[in-house]
Amino acid sequence: MSSDSLRIIQILLLCACSAFAASDVDWWESATLYQIYPRSFMDSDGDGVGDLNGITSRLAFLKEIGVTATWLSPIFESPMADMGYDVTNFTKVDPLFGTMEDFDAMLAKAHELGLKIILDFVPNHSSDQCEWFQKSIRREDGYDDFYIWDDGKIDPQTGVRIPPSNWNSEFNGSAWSWNEQRQQYYFHWFLVEQPDLNLRSPMVHQHLIDIMKFWLARGVDAFRIDAVPHFFEMRLANGTYPDEPVSGFTNDTNSNRYYSHIYTFNQPENLEILYEWREFLDEYQRQHGGDTRAMVAEAYATADILSDYISNGTHFGTQLPMNFNFISLRSNMNAKDIERFANSWMDVIWTKHKTANWVFGNHDNSRPATRIGEKRADMMTIIAHALPGTSVTYYGDEIGMTDYDTKCTPSNCDFRDPVRTPLQWSSAKNGGFSTGNSTWLPVNSNFKTLNVQRQRGVARSTLNIYKGMTALKKTLAFKSYKEEGGFAYEALTEQVFQIIRTAPKLEEYRVLANFGRQIEYLYGLTNKTMEYVLLNAYSPHRFGDKVDLSKRITLMPYEAVVLRWVA
Ligand code: GLC
Ligand code: MG
Repeated sequence: MSSDSLRIIQILLLCACSAFAASDVDWWESATLYQIYPRSFMDSDGDGVGDLNGITSRLAFLKEIGVTATWLSPIFESPMADMGYDVTNFTKVDPLFGTMEDFDAMLAKAHELGLKIILDFVPNHSSDQCEWFQKSIRREDGYDDFYIWDDGKIDPQTGVRIPPSNWNSEFNGSAWSWNEQRQQYYFHWFLVEQPDLNLRSPMVHQHLIDIMKFWLARGVDAFRIDAVPHFFEMRLANGTYPDEPVSGFTNDTNSNRYYSHIYTFNQPENLEILYEWREFLDEYQRQHGGDTRAMVAEAYATADILSDYISNGTHFGTQLPMNFNFISLRSNMNAKDIERFANSWMDVIWTKHKTANWVFGNHDNSRPATRIGEKRADMMTIIAHALPGTSVTYYGDEIGMTDYDTKCTPSNCDFRDPVRTPLQWSSAKNGGFSTGNSTWLPVNSNFKTLNVQRQRGVARSTLNIYKGMTALKKTLAFKSYKEEGGFAYEALTEQVFQIIRTAPKLEEYRVLANFGRQIEYLYGLTNKTMEYVLLNAYSPHRFGDKVDLSKRITLMPYEAVVLRWVA
């Protein structure tokens, strides 16, 4: 046999092995997730609020930009004190968003396009208008301990009744509110209108499982679990709730940060319920077939804690505890920060579980283009998709939308409104979001120049970079990340970040991103000659240009590129 044919056989063998290994990756492991904030994605009926039919009409856009699965912030019946995170009926669609028929139509269309739908699941609390809470107030039908009730204490000095503990809610002020009718305090980590469910009650567990069953039966693919660290609060054997120690971070006694949350945050019991749900979801899949019904978990917690969310070695929980490390990147960030934040996940969670995900924005945090800088918005897109694992994009970040000062007063708005403005589809009225006379939040005034339609036509727009990256995610090199030598990343200098993705001996991609304002020179990165396959607007190079990486290579300020080598 000639050496050439030997080589070909060798390559074929390699292909076969790599392809096999790559197809071993489950859908959620290397996915492109996209968060829709339903109020702000697309309005179909002109009332200025986004809705399900609006989403259905734009599912093709998600397909166009390479999304695999989209999670919807809550669409359930709600008085909207916390914009849907205060649910009155977990198995009803709020009329503002449409009907159950609209939901079914949306799901059917999504599946037809090969998109998965992930629903927000809010098991920590309900709305105070929820029938369960009303029944609990009246101590009806076993609902007595459905929420966390307590008589409180009598202040020995004043003789006045005070809350059971000093706990402050996330949105500040006591986490205990007095209910006149029941003559007891109830606990709410979030708003007064969001009483916490008592997750120690078996009946609550049953109700929560029933909610999941309901949506699974309709065909929902996965759940995003809200507020996981807040599931349980410490209750002592004598039924009391211990005070938390003062943190020293602030002098404002009303502030949530006034206390260290040793009794209200990440209690060990949180894990048990995640493991319980995983068992239920796995069993559901065994019985009904289909793809993995994954759980995405919202938890601002350390990698060690999140690692246990995935598995403690004997039990399994959520597949995707969201990695919020990059949420703390600000405009003073550099490549070393990216490396440090990436390591803090990879060293713990990758090492143990071979899984990773990268969240760059959501409805609770400043948008990356504002937080990190508009010049770097597309770079963050590149990094999020080039690191191994799953990327999570908040609607609008794919075009680099910015926070918008909605000029509201504290009494009539949410401090997070600036990141929740309508998606800017085009330069038409209301940015193409709605035909109405007004929209629930104003459309950012930059919509004429910053919108989907315009960016479609600009070769190096943030949108086209997003599309380029989601396409790369589907290549063998990007899919082979679990293999030995499948990926590497490194801050080459203070400002230059490099990511390498490899299908060993077959192809290699190399991302180089200069986060700084200076020209950077790099020497002898590899002996390969590579081709430019993706460039941002700051690159002077052209698609298809070749570069010999054994020599000096120059990166312009804010330049980010992807290079490719094929065997
Ligand atoms: C989660 C949501 C946030 C909401 C809170 C209470 O943190 O992301 O938007 O306010 O839960 O449900
Ligand atoms: Mg509407």
